[in-house]
Amino acid sequence: MAAIEYHAVPGDEAASRIEEYRALYAEVYGEPPYEWGAEHADLFVERFAVQRRQEGFALVEARHKAQLVGLGFGVTLLPSTPWWRNLVTPLPESMTTERPGRTWALVELLVRAPWRRRHVARTIHDLLLTGRPEERATLTVLPAATPAVAAYRKWGWRQVGEKRNPLPGAPVFAVMVRGLGE
Ligand SMILES: CC(C)(COP(=O)(O)OP(=O)(O)OC[C@H]1O[C@@H](n2cnc3c(N)ncnc32)[C@H](O)[C@@H]1OP(=O)(O)O)[C@@H](O)C(=O)NCCC(=O)NCCS
Repeated sequence: MAAIEYHAVPGDEAASRIEEYRALYAEVYGEPPYEWGAEHADLFVERFAVQRRQEGFALVEARHKAQLVGLGFGVTLLPSTPWWRNLVTPLPESMTTERPGRTWALVELLVRAPWRRRHVARTIHDLLLTGRPEERATLTVLPAATPAVAAYRKWGWRQVGEKRNPLPGAPVFAVMVRGLGE
C-alpha cells in the first residue's frame, strides 16, 4: 500500500483547495457526536477565508495517493483575540492575557474515519507544533468527542477551562493548553 504523505500548504494555495477541505469537514463532522450539517460547513469556509491570511497560519494535509485523508491547521492568537471570552468559569489573567506571539491555536484536526488509528492525526499534530516560536498552544474540543480528547491527553494537552458561545443551546467546549517545545 502506498504510504501516506504529509504536506505543509501555504494559505494562498490552501484557498484554492477549499472545496476539498469543505467536503472533508462535512464528512467528518457529519458523524456523531457532532452531526453538523451544511450550515457548519459554510461557516468553516467563511472562517477559513480569514484564518488562512492570519499571522502564524500553518496547515498540514495528509494524502494517500491523491486522496485527502486528514487535515490540521491553526493560527497565532492576536492580543485582541476573543479566544478567552465566554468562559463558563473565569480563569486567572495570567492564563488569559495574550501578548504578541504568546499562543498558537490549533483550529482544526480531522481524519477520515477509514484512516483513523494509524497515527495520521499524531503526525499532522507534530508537524504543526514542532518548532513553533510561540510559548504555548491552545485548542477547544467537545468533551463528547472521546477519540479527540484521548488523543490530546496522550499528546500532553491539559484542560484549563470550559467555554460556551452565547447562543441558546450552544454546547460547552473544553479549553486545553500545551506548552510548545514539549
Ligand atoms: C481525533 C482524530 C483526529 C484522531 O485521528 P487519528 O488519526 O485516528 O488519531 P491517531 O491515530 O494519531 O491517535 C492518537 C492517539 O489518540 C488516541 N485515540 C485516537 N482515537 C481513539 C479512540 N477512538 N479511542 C481511544 N483513544 C483514541 C489513542 O491514544 C491514539 O494512540 P494509539 O493509537 O497509539 O493508542 C479523529 O478521530 C477525528 O478526526 N475525529 C473527528 C474530528 C474531531 O473530533 N477532531 C478534533 C476536533 S478538536
